[in-house]
Amino acid sequence: MKLKGINVEAIRKDFPILKRKINGKSLIYFDNAATSQKPRQVINAISKYYSLYNANIHRTIHKLGVEATEAYENVRDKVVKFINAKHREEVLFVRNTTEAINLVAYSWGRANISKGDTILLTEMEHHSNIIPWQLLAKEKSANLKYIGITDDGFLKDDEIKEYLDNHPKILAITHVSNVLGTINPIKEIVRYAHKNGVIVLVDGAQSVPHMPVNVQDLDCDFLAFSSHKMLGPTGVGILYGKRELLENMEPFQGGGDMIKEVHLNYAKWNDLPWKFEAGTANIADVIGFGAAIDYLNKIGMENVRAHEVDLTSYALNKMSEIENLKIYGPIDVNYRCGVISFNIGNIHPHDVATILDSEGIAIRSGHHCAQPLMERLNVPAVNRASFYIYNTKEEIDIMVNVLKEIKEVFKI
Ligand SMILES: Cc1ncc(COP(=O)(O)O)c(C=O)c1O
Repeated sequence: MKLKGINVEAIRKDFPILKRKINGKSLIYFDNAATSQKPRQVINAISKYYSLYNANIHRTIHKLGVEATEAYENVRDKVVKFINAKHREEVLFVRNTTEAINLVAYSWGRANISKGDTILLTEMEHHSNIIPWQLLAKEKSANLKYIGITDDGFLKDDEIKEYLDNHPKILAITHVSNVLGTINPIKEIVRYAHKNGVIVLVDGAQSVPHMPVNVQDLDCDFLAFSSHKMLGPTGVGILYGKRELLENMEPFQGGGDMIKEVHLNYAKWNDLPWKFEAGTANIADVIGFGAAIDYLNKIGMENVRAHEVDLTSYALNKMSEIENLKIYGPIDVNYRCGVISFNIGNIHPHDVATILDSEGIAIRSGHHCAQPLMERLNVPAVNRASFYIYNTKEEIDIMVNVLKEIKEVFKI
């Protein structure tokens, strides 16, 4: 089962949950776009922190505190390397992608968006990259504009140019759609945006876990992503921001750790990155995230991507043989990630997902926190199967066979 540098059989042994039986069947986990499973290396790193060196960080002189601080800050260095940030001050620990985007909308947005300004988004955004901007637009009487998508799931090129030529203040755009799987040409878009003086925030929730992402190469101004979608624990997200931008932004939250000095009537903020990390951090889970990054680095992000391209093209071929099964998004795997959204005739996605679950297969059904995209596709909901490093073609075959049975039973 050795696959372009990935030894799936060995990898699967690291994930205790994959031994689980669901309804008497071996678990097939195809809900990776929602959250990934965790290898024992991550689980053990968290357990080791609590068992051996649990202490608060940054303001402790004792041994445990020093060890915990070192472990926590080492993870920042790992993230810096993982996304190739230029400076370690540019990597902030937050709770998740959602909080990272809210931080920018709040701290950058409230200082830089005024009445009549335009905030540019796309029709394929997750609610996390819509709602913070809606809140900001409402507060500032600013306008929201959305780049549309073509019927085959790409952003409309002419609208990208036209809307950027009109000088919005910021473009907040997903790197990879969590529904269509589309990989947007972020580097080219950023270059065009910058020519027009537009700041670009990239939602990397579905790209950073699945392919090499290099912030200096993309030249994006902000990048947001979540640990839990890339083998790490929940409760940890990353906001990358260019140093000059972060330096000029006011804090998002106030409290301990984010200050240098506090007096009764004024305070001085801490240096970056701690200016944006108020209160006791999620130390254990950041340390767990470090183990997840080590794990992915050992495999190599090029190999992660190659494995997913292989699985996705296999699944697209097999699924397209099923009559009346509609797949959303680009068909060419060079432009899509390992996320396949589909509907079978008019069978409700919750029925499909329930039947698959009875066979031990976990997929997602619903609007996937992308209701504007559902409206654009003219569907209330879709099914979504999404893959990761531990998935196999055999698992895809099992799912496809159940999908064929569903089609027979519903006489579609
Ligand atoms: C594209 C995209 N953006 C943002 C998010 C939000 O991530 P989180 O819930 O970790 O904040 C998700 C989660 O599914 C996503 O797929």
